Amino acid sequence: ADVVRFRSQLLNWYNKEKRELPWRTLATTESDINIRTYGVWVSEIMLQQTQVATVKDYYNKWMKVWPTVQELAAATLEEVNQMWAGLGYYSRGRRLHEGAQKVVSELKGQMPQTVESLLKQLPGVGRYTAAAIGSIAQGLVTGAVDGNVIRVLCRLRAIGADSTSPAVTAALWDLANLLVDPERPGDFNQAMMELGARVCTPKGPLCSQCPVQSHCHSYHKVGIRDLMARGML
Ligand code: ADE
Repeated sequence: ADVVRFRSQLLNWYNKEKRELPWRTLATTESDINIRTYGVWVSEIMLQQTQVATVKDYYNKWMKVWPTVQELAAATLEEVNQMWAGLGYYSRGRRLHEGAQKVVSELKGQMPQTVESLLKQLPGVGRYTAAAIGSIAQGLVTGAVDGNVIRVLCRLRAIGADSTSPAVTAALWDLANLLVDPERPGDFNQAMMELGARVCTPKGPLCSQCPVQSHCHSYHKVGIRDLMARGML
């Protein structure tokens, strides 16, 4: 029951506060799952080391030139590198190109449709990215734990231990999988990311604006709350 309230409070906030981003529009309006998966894949790779504001324009331009995985596979690496100019970490663009060629030549042009196969088949796609693509583009019910979500979950449960340790990582994925809304997994995961980016920020989190404040163990620990309010945590 507590989990159900957590989901609805978070998603109500997301419904009101979410930014309109081109890959979100694609994920909700495009009827072809292959195109949704391809588009969200492109967006997640671009977002791996680049801010949302910068990615938007690159994403729109990319999708105009290569709207499908088949068209990307037919491009040359030079064209891909030109398109990538300014984004940095060029291996990301190269892996998208390699992945597209693999999907076309080995998977009959079908983007993988399970978290395991996204992870296994697409170069440059790790556990978080596979979970993000699967939930956002395909409605697969899985949590997705990236840097922002690690911070949100650690505060939610007042986990002080090193969040990069294997035990804590495993616990955070378990928690994310337990919390995720099975009806709206993609929105839920993006709401967690959005909460981390806009409210539950690294320094000076805006707890007074947090839709899930009542669930937060850190907020309820007065000492921690005070340190947060002072921007020390
Ligand atoms: N960072 C990574 N994926 C994202 C998404 N779908 N929306 C906003 N920020 C993100």
